[in-house]
Parts: sequence; C-alpha cells; structure tokens
Amino acid sequence: MATASAQRATAIPNDLEAYWIPFTPNRAFKAAPRLIARAKDMHYYTPEGRAVLDGTAGMWCTNAGHNRDPIVAAIRAEAAALDYAPAFQFAHPKAFELASRVAALAPGELDHVFFCNSGSEAVDTALKIALAYHQVRGEAARTRLIGRERGYHGVGFGGISVGGIVANRKFFGSLLAGVDHLPATYNREQQAFSKGEPEWGAHLADELERIVALHDASTIAAVIVEPMAGSTGVLPAPKGYLQRLRAICDKYGILLILDEVITGFGRLGYAFAAERYGIVPDMITFAKGITSGTVPMGGVLVRKPIYDAFMRGPAHVVELFHGYTYSAHPLACAAGLATLALYREEGLFERAKNLEPVWAEAAMSLKGLPNVLDIRCVGLTAGIDLASRPNEVGKRAYDAMEKAFHGENLVIRVTGETIALTPPLIMSERDIEEIFAKVARVIRAVA
Ligand SMILES: Cc1ncc(COP(=O)(O)O)c(C=O)c1O
Repeated sequence: MATASAQRATAIPNDLEAYWIPFTPNRAFKAAPRLIARAKDMHYYTPEGRAVLDGTAGMWCTNAGHNRDPIVAAIRAEAAALDYAPAFQFAHPKAFELASRVAALAPGELDHVFFCNSGSEAVDTALKIALAYHQVRGEAARTRLIGRERGYHGVGFGGISVGGIVANRKFFGSLLAGVDHLPATYNREQQAFSKGEPEWGAHLADELERIVALHDASTIAAVIVEPMAGSTGVLPAPKGYLQRLRAICDKYGILLILDEVITGFGRLGYAFAAERYGIVPDMITFAKGITSGTVPMGGVLVRKPIYDAFMRGPAHVVELFHGYTYSAHPLACAAGLATLALYREEGLFERAKNLEPVWAEAAMSLKGLPNVLDIRCVGLTAGIDLASRPNEVGKRAYDAMEKAFHGENLVIRVTGETIALTPPLIMSERDIEEIFAKVARVIRAVA
C-alpha cells in the first residue's frame, strides 16, 4: 500500500514556484503550465492522461521513441547491479563495451571515445582536447577556436564562446578569448524552400581562408560546426560546404570538430552526419540519441592520432587532465548499449533515411499557409519560419507551441519565430500525416 508521503510525491505539483525552468519564460509557463507525466513510444501523457503526440523526440533526443522496454529493462538491471564506480583510475566493463560500439559506428579512424554527461560537456571536452593536442605536439601557439554565427554548442563557457546565438552570449561577459566565427550558412533569398541541402552556399566555407589570413594558421587550433545547425532553427549545410571546410582545415593543420549532438544516431539517416557528407572530422561530439534521452550522457569521438599524441610520458601519469565524476556512468552505459542494440535491431537509421522523402514532401505541403516565410528540412528534421507580428518577435511561434500542446495534442519546439520538428525515428507515415495536419491547423490558428 502506498504511504502518505509516496502519495504526496506522485501528486500533480501544485506549487510551481521553486523550480527555475531552463530556457523557458517562467512566468508565462507557470501561468499556463505544459506538464508531462509519462510517455510511451510516440506519445506523451499529461498528468490528466491526455495523449500528446511527440513531434520533437523530446529535445532531439528520444530517437528510439519513449520508454522502450529493452532500454528500461537495461537501466533497471544496471541500477540493481552497479550504481556507481569511480570514473577516474577505475572503470566498469560496460564503459569499454559502449566505447567500442560507438567507435564502430563512426567513420574513418574515429576510434576513441571520451565520455561525459551532456552535449555542453562534450563540446567543452572537444575544445579542450584540441588545445591540449596542439600543446603536446609542440604547437602551443594554436589556441584560437573558430565557431560559426548562429551555431549552438551548448551552454558551457566554451560552447557559448564558439556558438553564435546572440542571446546565449550577450549576458555572460567577455567569454573565451581568441575566438572567431564563420558566417552563418543561411540566406533566405538564395535558399528558400530547399528540400535537403541547399544548392547555394558552399562558398561560405571559404570564409575560413579569410580568417586564416587574418590570424595565421599557426594560431588556430580548431573549427567547430554543426552539420545541420539545429537550435537556431534547422539550417542544413549547403551542398559541398562541409567537404570544403574539411579541405581547408587539412590544408592548414586545423582540427575539424563536428558537433553531432543532434545529428548523431540517425537523425539524418546515418549513424553520424559525417557519413552522409562523406567526410571524416577529427572529432565528433555526441549526446542525446546515445541513450535515446533516457539517461544523461555525452561524449567525444576522437581520431586515433589525437589519442596517440597524448599516450607518452611516464606510464603512471595522467595523460589528459580532464573528466567528470559521472563520465561513463553505469546507468548511462547500460542505457546506451540497449539503445544502440535497438537502433540496430529495428534498423532505425535506415528507417529515417527511407522516410526522409515522405517527411520532406509533407513538410513542404505547408508552403502557402499564412505567414510561412520558409521551410527547411534534412533527414527527419524540419524548420518552419513564421512572419513576426509587429513589435512582437517570437510571439507567433510561442503561441503556436501553446496552441499545439493545449489545442492539438502535439509537442512542437520553437526557437525565435521558427517551429522545429524532429520526431522519434520510429514514427509511421500516419504519424507524419498527423503531425503536419496538426501543425497546419496551428499555423492557421495563429495567423
Ligand atoms: C549541436 C548541439 N551541441 C550541444 C548541445 C548541448 O547539449 P546539452 O543541452 O545536452 O548540454 C546541443 C543541445 O541541443 C546541440 O544541439
């Protein structure tokens, strides 16, 4: 029988004050909360039991769908077997197994994995490895980091420094020194309503040449970009852009880091987007889909020569002074192994690839609805730009999110005036129809 305190613990919260909700307008939320109590497969359920279709895979993370039995079972079993093992100087077997599995999915000689707990930590880890790598090789002057305007790389000081979303930067002081930015790849005039990678824009990678000319290659450690800029509103890389960036980095000995926190684990129809674009970066950051969102985990895939560069000096001395208490946490590793097994068994990356044309067609059917300025899509993602109401930037999209949740039983994400859709990879063609029918009604409702 449930005790009184257990009943209290499971009751619907009736005091919303204490929780400072991240990246959320707290007052508006607390006035009309959007609460989610449980989930299964493609759906969320509110505390009252209303089913809500998940159009966003949580936050681009529950790629295998929600509360899948094999993942839940693996987490349960691991919690009973090993709650925690020290992450430094000790390890547990599943950490090695998961690292090998992730490495096997990655292209080229990206064959070492450093684990952490989030995308932000993965980015900061990759940036630190880049700086330290040049230092241990005797090129300590290579300290500059190059990001991109409109890029999102999480919220650590490293991530917001190389990131290019103004609101995420302007409140937080002078950030990291020695950072420069490539221009964003989006140009509505040239690219509007492109399906997949836009034809226009590969030349924007050449801006790296200008940055090299300004600072000199000998001062530049790494370039970091997302293969598809997600959080800024779904900006697919223009055709040929990433290949060009790779070539310029090679020419100058600059490391290329692909931030695949969103695009990793099937979102673009491949284990990693690097494969879709036929390039091998020096590092790949990942998170989210590694555990299908179930247990926090992130990591960095590192090319063999980078790992090897650190493996010198006395054998008893730490090679890289970096790590987290919860790096390769047992629950995360168990969840990761079960998730990767599910991706394999259900062919979910392939599924995403096969669904892409259907998805893109459905997304583009919204063209012509009131206030729709552009639609972009690549893999199983879509970004729909809406026109702002006079003097209320972002309000139309915010209203759309509210309307979708309360009126249409659909979760969508909004960023600025863009609706972003990124459903679980298990969705059916019927789900696609339902998502876009609901979004169309929402767009009309906020006209
Ligand atoms: C490309 C990219 N990098 C990093 C992050 C940060 O991940 P986290 O929120 O897990 O710290 C995100 C989050 O959406 C992301 O999209």
